[in-house]
Amino acid sequence: MSRILITSALPYINGIKHLGTLAGSMLPADVYARFQRSRGRETLYICATDEHGTPTELAAAEKGQDPATFCAEQHQIQHDLGRAFGLSWDHFGRSSSPQNHRLTQRFAQQLWEAGFIEERVTQQVYSNADKRFLPDRYVIGTCPHCGYESARGDQCENCTRVLDPADLIHPRSAVSGSTDIEIRGSKHLFLRQSLFAGKLRHWIEAKRDRWPLLVTSIALKWLDEGLQDRGITRDLEWGVPVNAFEWGPNPEGRTPDIEGLAGKVFYVWFDAPIEYIAATWEWADARAAEAGTGPAPDADWERWWREPAAADVTYVEFMGKDNVPFHTVGFPCTLFGINETLGADGKFTPVNNAPWKLVDQLKGFNWLDYYGGKFSTSQKRGVFMDHALELLPADYWRWWVTANTPETSDATFTWEQFQAQVNADLADVLGNFVNRILKFTESRFEGKVPEGGAAGPLEEKLEADVLAKLRELTEHLEGREFRKAATALRQLWVLGNGYLTEAAPWTAFKTDPGRAAVGVRTGLNLVALFAKICEPFIPFAAETVALSVGEAFPGRWPVLDGSPVLAILPEGRPVKAPDVLFRKVEDTQVAEWRERFGGPEAA
Ligand code: 2FM
Ligand code: ZN
Repeated sequence: MSRILITSALPYINGIKHLGTLAGSMLPADVYARFQRSRGRETLYICATDEHGTPTELAAAEKGQDPATFCAEQHQIQHDLGRAFGLSWDHFGRSSSPQNHRLTQRFAQQLWEAGFIEERVTQQVYSNADKRFLPDRYVIGTCPHCGYESARGDQCENCTRVLDPADLIHPRSAVSGSTDIEIRGSKHLFLRQSLFAGKLRHWIEAKRDRWPLLVTSIALKWLDEGLQDRGITRDLEWGVPVNAFEWGPNPEGRTPDIEGLAGKVFYVWFDAPIEYIAATWEWADARAAEAGTGPAPDADWERWWREPAAADVTYVEFMGKDNVPFHTVGFPCTLFGINETLGADGKFTPVNNAPWKLVDQLKGFNWLDYYGGKFSTSQKRGVFMDHALELLPADYWRWWVTANTPETSDATFTWEQFQAQVNADLADVLGNFVNRILKFTESRFEGKVPEGGAAGPLEEKLEADVLAKLRELTEHLEGREFRKAATALRQLWVLGNGYLTEAAPWTAFKTDPGRAAVGVRTGLNLVALFAKICEPFIPFAAETVALSVGEAFPGRWPVLDGSPVLAILPEGRPVKAPDVLFRKVEDTQVAEWRERFGGPEAA
């Protein structure tokens, strides 16, 4: 049986994430991880905070903190919120970890020594007042095309033209507003991605039938536009330091310009994907520390990432569509570069006999927006993870977001649609079903799974219908089709309700106790089945439901080899109705939340 390695795009450290971020990576990854675990597969779900880069430095400065303190605090907040949402990461790491420093530096050294990194001098804006180089978007000025006065150095927000900071009229620092800025030359490292264009195209073409069209089309578009070499260093303080002084000569015999590169760090998009691997190392170290055995041997984490040990691993990545280029082009180039060397004849040859693993399945998502507009932290528009949990338990959000996963197109959140859907699916269908059957068992069958009576055609039909739907549900989850999976699950709940209505044990109870016993027993077995198959989607409610019928949690995914799927509970087992599973969302709440978080007018 294959092992499953799962990563979801690393959330930036600054700021609490909104429902859109959850929808486009972490939540579907979690549903998938829970599903795979319940099928009995050895599964590792890795995520981390993405901590480097200018926005982090500036956000820390704004709070009067140094970046390390800021990141430690924010990491804890994101960690706790993720857990409260039921995200079942095996490890939630930090891209600023010592492991990621070591691995990023080691990979860069290998790339240099293999000849895949080049030095170049680039012209950059330096702010004398701020005593720092400014990334393009932190230089603002008047747009030469439209006259907009607050155009950013990378792009004018007003006329959308792409700019260079040097184009701006009256340029100034976005950090301090100072106009005391100048252009300075600065030495930087470039990853020679252009060398990999052919290899990448070949690799992506081979994925065409297996990856969503969204993903392969974005990747191929990048390649069609011509693959540029990419700057992988920055003039910042907070980041993984460039350790060029440790590097040996490249194939041309040149050593790096140690002085010119002093004080630089790697670009955040260079070290962030490496953190997928480094976080696995963090996970192994944390486990070893827990067991009291000191740092983990490399083999413990490398077995997920390096062939041949990882030959049975299927690696699945989850991310929003904006991240696709970095995962189909940027990160693969890094890995190609450390796995292989380029000969003078233009041929690649493997350099190690334990190559690093590339992604097998890549699931990309469109956007989830808010009333057709963007979620916005600065404008306080939309629902963020902390507020969401103040309003309702995590399962409401998990269910709505999964059922509306932006897979084939963008999706939009509205309070009205949210209310209608959670009330219908969770309260009226699932909650009502569980409550109805368990309350009846308590009042008429002494709170025990009834004995006696024989299954008839109604139960046979139910068994067949349930098995068919379960197969559908399983297939959609295996195929990472989350909307379809949620639909299949809802249909299973509906089948349960339909059965109870038809079997009507409350009526049969007076005339045919055997029939009533079968109806109730079947209903209770449906409850037990639902607990198992709801777990990936709504784990908190699933646990309550499992416990109400005395089942272990989390349970195993049903075996679909044709054996009965509704013979789970032993006769005579005590059961107990839970408190209301899902309270309905009221109109007054919706009115209040719209007021607080913005409604259609806010978008
Ligand atoms: O877009 C983002 O939110 C990035 N922080 C994702 C990084 S994914 C990975 F490569 F680390
Ligand atoms: Zn403009």
